[in-house]
Amino acid sequence: MSKNFEAIIDALERRLISIKYEDYRHGDISKLVGFGIVGHLYNYYHLEKTLKMLNPEFKIPSREFLGSLFHITPSYKLCDIHNFKFKTGSTTNGCVVVATFIPDMIDRDIWAIFSKVVKACKIAEKQGIGIVALGGFSSIVAERTGQEIANEVDVPVTTGNSFTAAMAIDGVLKAVELLGRDISCLKATIVGGTGDIGSGCARVLVKKVKQLTVTGRTKENLKRISAELAKIRRAVVDATMDNEAAVRDADIVISATSATSSILKPEWFKSGAVVCDVGYPKNISYTPTNRQDILIFSGGLAKLPTPINFPVDIGLPSADALYGCFSEAIILALERRYENFSFGRGNITPERIEEIRRLGKKHGFEVSDFYWGNRFVDASTIERIKEGIN
Ligand SMILES: NC(=O)c1ccc[n+]([C@@H]2O[C@H](COP(=O)([O-])OP(=O)(O)OC[C@H]3O[C@@H](n4cnc5c(N)ncnc54)[C@H](OP(=O)(O)O)[C@@H]3O)[C@@H](O)[C@H]2O)c1
Repeated sequence: MSKNFEAIIDALERRLISIKYEDYRHGDISKLVGFGIVGHLYNYYHLEKTLKMLNPEFKIPSREFLGSLFHITPSYKLCDIHNFKFKTGSTTNGCVVVATFIPDMIDRDIWAIFSKVVKACKIAEKQGIGIVALGGFSSIVAERTGQEIANEVDVPVTTGNSFTAAMAIDGVLKAVELLGRDISCLKATIVGGTGDIGSGCARVLVKKVKQLTVTGRTKENLKRISAELAKIRRAVVDATMDNEAAVRDADIVISATSATSSILKPEWFKSGAVVCDVGYPKNISYTPTNRQDILIFSGGLAKLPTPINFPVDIGLPSADALYGCFSEAIILALERRYENFSFGRGNITPERIEEIRRLGKKHGFEVSDFYWGNRFVDASTIERIKEGIN
């Protein structure tokens, strides 16, 4: 009896939510407000660390058991973010929802993970959110199933990849400038250049550098992107499946792959190289290295106008740094642009990147300071690298 009653209430609630979003589809955005962030933990270590943080006494079970437990844990709302204030004086609200998976779990049961992401979006929908960012692998999962999240939910969704690409490019340009180098004389490699963020970065950098190499796992994708880039033609374009060879002679490396563990070794990079690791989990291991001669940093991050203190460690070094994909939803919410801004793989154009960068700047978002792990890359490190180049 009570189960039936719950089902009736549930159906009524869903109907009310749908009506809200139906109005929005007819041009009335007055009932929607704010941003939703769908995030996930990035590996077992992150999951264990989070559990320990919530309960220091917690005895961590085997990874197999922990994985199974997490698999049956439904997506949940982590927190609300109230009255978030920006440079222009405008404010917005939002919520953060955890899709309860780690990228390592995707191959085991991709459909279960897909439905966790859908569920996470529906949690944001319940609050009448205007735009939801599908952080990190939340968008990659949808892509791999060949399903559009946008068809499964009422709330507009964005991968946030346009702003992530903007921040990765801005980071690289800033680093090159700090090292006193002329970008038009440099060789760049984009590892994962066939992907959504990677190809977006490639479309911009191909007009700036002397030579551009893209890497990926799939020949067909490599062919497609290199043919597209070659038409733009500022740089000499090259494509390969050999990541190591491609980064060894590169002055600039952007790594934006969906690998679930590190695939690039610090010793492969050329002395003086600018290395921007966009991947989450990281494409380059955080394990200590004696390389003092490369400018390596976590890329795709934005510096916020107002710090956000998340109740758990979301893998960022400071409260004023935020993932580009999350930032994109906040910027769109401030603009009340409730639309699938970045969507579908390979649609990140230089125009979109420029547009979201401009909107971000208006509200006080800029490229993050340089961090590698929790370490801030200071001016003396940059000076030392610069001396090594000259
Ligand atoms: N920093 C941030 O704020 C931020 C924001 C959003 C996402 N991310 C992260 O950025 C990464 C990329 O996201 P995305 O949406 O662009 O993914 P995506 O569209 O799925 O692209 C992934 C790319 O990685 C390539 N790849 C996978 N394994 C590889 C390997 N071993 N060697 C070379 N290439 C490999 C794929 O190649 P094929 O196409 O040939 O298979 C593809 O080009 C993810 O780690 C994601 O979590 C970071």
